[in-house]
Amino acid sequence: MTHYSGELLLQIDSYIEGLFALSDPTLEGALRRSRRAGLPEIHVSPNEGRLLRLLAETAGARRILEVGTLGGYSTIHLAHALPEDGSLISLELDERYAEVARENIAEADFGGRVEVWVGDARKLLADMVEDGVRPFDLTFIDADKGSYPEYLEWALQLSQPGSLVLADNTIRGGSVLNPRDESARAIRKFNENLARDPRLSAHILPVIRERVDGLAMARVLKS
Ligand code: SAH
Ligand code: DHB
Ligand code: MG
Repeated sequence: MTHYSGELLLQIDSYIEGLFALSDPTLEGALRRSRRAGLPEIHVSPNEGRLLRLLAETAGARRILEVGTLGGYSTIHLAHALPEDGSLISLELDERYAEVARENIAEADFGGRVEVWVGDARKLLADMVEDGVRPFDLTFIDADKGSYPEYLEWALQLSQPGSLVLADNTIRGGSVLNPRDESARAIRKFNENLARDPRLSAHILPVIRERVDGLAMARVLKS
């Protein structure tokens, strides 16, 4: 059996990044400002951001929902896929993170199309369903891992047939194979729900960085 070192995985990731990453000062700036503000460095990788954008473009997404904004790095990748009259709502628990994200989003010139809503996403999503907001074409789940099963249900209620539901961190270095904590157990539950939900056509794409994680992808058949 071939053994892949963490270093080789990183080299492969960098190779792909060298080929396809768009040199974009606003993305670099977002990371720099986020780092300076002391935000945790748990944003998607440049390659995963590139993939999110490609998927949003392929889906022709005009309305995007993101759960877990942090400094808005993934938000900016997704916003690049929007048409001029498109919109993105991103939900973030931490007011301070949301402020950094708003600044990053404005610097990237997406201030007119992107809104960051502050609060517990579980509550905000329930309110959105209650208020009957129009369905989203794409939902990207990337907040607290323990709530992933719940987020999947809300995402489905806020979707329509053809919508895409994506979720980051669904492999977590393999910890889902043998969950040892609550968040790994919840992600494992999320993956099982995703796989067997008759309303979805779904899969998980392993994503490499220094370790292997996964991007769950699901097309809503009926919501
Ligand atoms: N999508 C971002 C990374 C998000 S990190 C990127 O790739 O650039 C996860 C974020 O979810 C953190 O900012 C955290 O504050 C937020 N979060 C955690 N629990 C939450 C909750 N219950 N509701 C909303 N946001 C939450
Ligand atoms: C971590 C990574 C993430 O992408 C995330 O959304 C949350 C946490 C982490 O590496 O701890
Ligand atoms: Mg993540």
